[in-house]
Amino acid sequence: MSEGSVSFTSCVINWQIPTLLLVTGASRGLGATIAKEFSKKLCKGSYVILLARDKPKLEVVKAEINKICVVYAEILALDLILLDSASFEHLFTKYENFNFQQVVIVNNAGTLGDISKTALQTTSGPDIKDYFDLNLLSVIFLTTGFLNAFKTAKRKIVINISSLAAIQPFRGWSLYCTGKAAREMYFRTLAEEEKETVIVLNYAPGPLVTDMLPQILRDALPEIKQQFHEAQLQNQLLTTEYTVQRLIGILDRGRFKSGDHVDVFDMNY
Ligand SMILES: NC(=O)c1ccc[n+]([C@@H]2O[C@H](COP(=O)([O-])OP(=O)(O)OC[C@H]3O[C@@H](n4cnc5c(N)ncnc54)[C@H](OP(=O)(O)O)[C@@H]3O)[C@@H](O)[C@H]2O)c1
Repeated sequence: MSEGSVSFTSCVINWQIPTLLLVTGASRGLGATIAKEFSKKLCKGSYVILLARDKPKLEVVKAEINKICVVYAEILALDLILLDSASFEHLFTKYENFNFQQVVIVNNAGTLGDISKTALQTTSGPDIKDYFDLNLLSVIFLTTGFLNAFKTAKRKIVINISSLAAIQPFRGWSLYCTGKAAREMYFRTLAEEEKETVIVLNYAPGPLVTDMLPQILRDALPEIKQQFHEAQLQNQLLTTEYTVQRLIGILDRGRFKSGDHVDVFDMNY
């Protein structure tokens, strides 16, 4: 951990202390794997909250966690787009008395938006508003609701699931790139303001085999579609298990500075 950031032990997450972990988008894809792999490492007395819309799929993830882990898993089945800012503040009231020493939020839920249009074709007000309601506003409301509910926790860790698209434009992905870039700057600002109390990691997980892949292969502009086809043919896409083990390694080595953008392929971390 570099100078000027919270002085934790080298491991960013202390897996040995009872922890409250919240993972958004935990029903499938990357979020489900994060929830399961983090749960395997957490100790008894820890709570894991699985948030997404699809309750049956969340139940499956919860059952898998219950089978192999000592943590207590709970489901929060809700649509992040439908919550107003006041509701976010009350989401965590029932956990406040547990006095967790460590709390971890993984802002993973996300969507690609309409990737079949160029920036100049992206003109539908309701579509743009919906996109940022989910991919930016809900992230801000959820994070502030979470951190304000657990002010007294000694260790507060915020993981933002970012993307290469936060720092590099992709043709047809104007909403996705803008949302990811805005999220990162929000979390970099948070890291700067809360240096003494919160550790923030912006993690770019790499190109994955999840439900986002068929959408890209179907809807993306031809050049991008071709890139992903080739990456698939050459086995360059990552499994969620691989990228989550890299994420855990990055957290355990703790070489990043709070607020940094860390890419799965950057072996310096
Ligand atoms: N896949 C990639 O190649 C890739 C690359 C870089 C970054 N990422 C990032 O990784 C994260 C996870 O992506 P993924 O590939 O795992 O995607 P995914 O398989 O499509 O999963 C998205 C998750 O977000 C949840 N979600 C979507 N809309 C929601 C809403 N309105 N309210 C609550 N939850 C909602 C979904 O659950 P429900 O449908 O049950 O609500 C699902 O669990 C995203 O932030 C994505 O941008 C992905």
